[in-house]
Formats: sequence, C-alpha cells, structure tokens
Amino acid sequence: MSEPTPPLLELERVSLAYGPVLAVREVSFAVRAGEVVGLVGDNGAGKSSIVKLVAGVHRPTSGTMRWSGRAYAPRGPREALEAGIATIHQHLALAPRLPVWQNLFLGCERVRRSWLLGLPVLDVGRMRAEARAALARLGITVTDVDCPVAELSGGQRQAVAIARALLWNARLLVMDEPTAALGVRETEEVRALIRRLKAKGVAVLLVSHDMQDVVAVADRVLVLKKGRLAAERAAAELDADRLAHLVMTAEAV
Ligand SMILES: Nc1ncnc2c1ncn2[C@@H]1O[C@H](COP(=O)(O)OP(=O)(O)OP(=O)(O)O)[C@@H](O)[C@H]1O
Ligand SMILES: [Mg+2]
Repeated sequence: MSEPTPPLLELERVSLAYGPVLAVREVSFAVRAGEVVGLVGDNGAGKSSIVKLVAGVHRPTSGTMRWSGRAYAPRGPREALEAGIATIHQHLALAPRLPVWQNLFLGCERVRRSWLLGLPVLDVGRMRAEARAALARLGITVTDVDCPVAELSGGQRQAVAIARALLWNARLLVMDEPTAALGVRETEEVRALIRRLKAKGVAVLLVSHDMQDVVAVADRVLVLKKGRLAAERAAAELDADRLAHLVMTAEAV
C-alpha cells in the first residue's frame, strides 16, 4: 500500500510572541490540497498572526510547520511564495495609481533584452498579455488591464490581488478578510472565485469575520480564541448563526 499523501500545510504546536504579547499559542492544524479551511475568531484572536507565520512574514517563537510533508521555515515572504503559498494580507498592498497589469507584476516584473543595446528592459507587452490571460483564467471581470487600480471597485481590486497571488501558481492561497470592504454582489464574486480555485485543487485558508462567507465556502472551520485553537468543525455541521455562537462560546482548550 502506498503512503497516504501528507497534508499540504501542517502546523504543530506553533506559538508566536510579540515581545510580551503571546498572540498564537500552541496551534496545530492541517490543510489538504483542494480544501477550503475557514479561520475565525474575535478581534485580536491571532488570525492575522497565523497568516503572517504561514506567509513567512514572522517566524514562530516555538513549534514547527511542514509543507508537503517537509520542514517549512520560510525566512521571508519570497520563500513562502516560491514554495507555493501565496498570501493576500488584510490590507491589500496594491498601488492605486498604477494600471492593473503593473500591479500584477509589482516586484516580479518580466524583463527582456533590448534589441538596440542588449540591455534588460521591462517586457510591457508580455506583462499586459499575461495579465489579461491570468484574469481570464480566473473568470475575472476586469476588461481593461490599463485601467488604474484606483478606478476599480472593491471586488475588482480583490480580484486583482488574487490574480497577482496566483501568477506564481500557488498551491495554497491564504486570504485575510477578503470580503471586509465589499458589497453583496462583489462578495459573491469572491466566493465564486474561491470555489473555482478549490475545483482546480488549490487549497484556501480563509480568514473572515463574515460567518456567511465562511459557511458558504469552507469545508472545515477553525475557531481561535485568545491565540488558541478552541474548536474545529466540519462546515456541513454549521450555519452562520451556529458558527457565530461557537465563536462567542468556545473556550480555549
Ligand atoms: N506587530 C505586533 N506587535 C505587537 N503585538 C501585535 C502585533 N500584531 C498583532 N499584535 C497583537 O497580537 C494579538 C493578535 O493580533 P492579530 O492581528 O493576529 O489578531 P486578528 O485575529 O487578526 O484580529 P482582527 O480580527 O482584528 O484582524 C493582538 O493582541 C494584537 O494586539
Ligand atoms: Mg486580522
């Protein structure tokens, strides 16, 4: 018999302290390929801190992480991205005055040799074409890649952030409050996008205050309380009210 495939991402008794503040306390969980895992909890529960550990922004104070069964200790966000983990942080880091295509390639611009002097120059044509293709693959309704991000709706901005994250062929997408600033229709677009990613086998770790969001798309939900994992449930057992009740009543174990 062959070994069962290991989870994509595993955290084992991971803690994170910011000086005297213990933001994450011995948290253990796993995320499998194609699985959507919701991460919920009150303000300050430690959700974004876990996101930052997975994204390589911070290193655990103790505990270990594994990626595809191997030790995972990224020294920075770039290493996380290269490993296959793309993160969209709570506050989108987009450049509003730059066009969509340029936002997609911020920090990882495509270059080519200039035909004149053989020097490297930005390959604008290729980036615009790749941007268009990336958005189309995700079924995103941004028709003009030359449009400055400032002119997009909240939902379209979130979509651009997702497309940028996925340019790297991520196998896990971590999203911290993707629908916080969105209207009803835009929220539904983001949910549909998460479902399409899942169908492609991409795993999603979804942090959200919106219980409707979580029960609409997650397979499994983790409830954090004061830095500790207080409950874990299959989403099929929950509705938004039950989940909200669980967030209020679950005791850190
Ligand atoms: N850079 C930091 N330095 C010191 N303390 C921090 C830092 N970032 C977060 N904290 C603290 O760590 C705890 C967890 O914060 P975190 O941002 O992870 O919570 P959260 O669950 O994402 O909250 P929210 O729902 O408000 O986004 C809080 O007590 C917070 O004040
Ligand atoms: Mg947060």
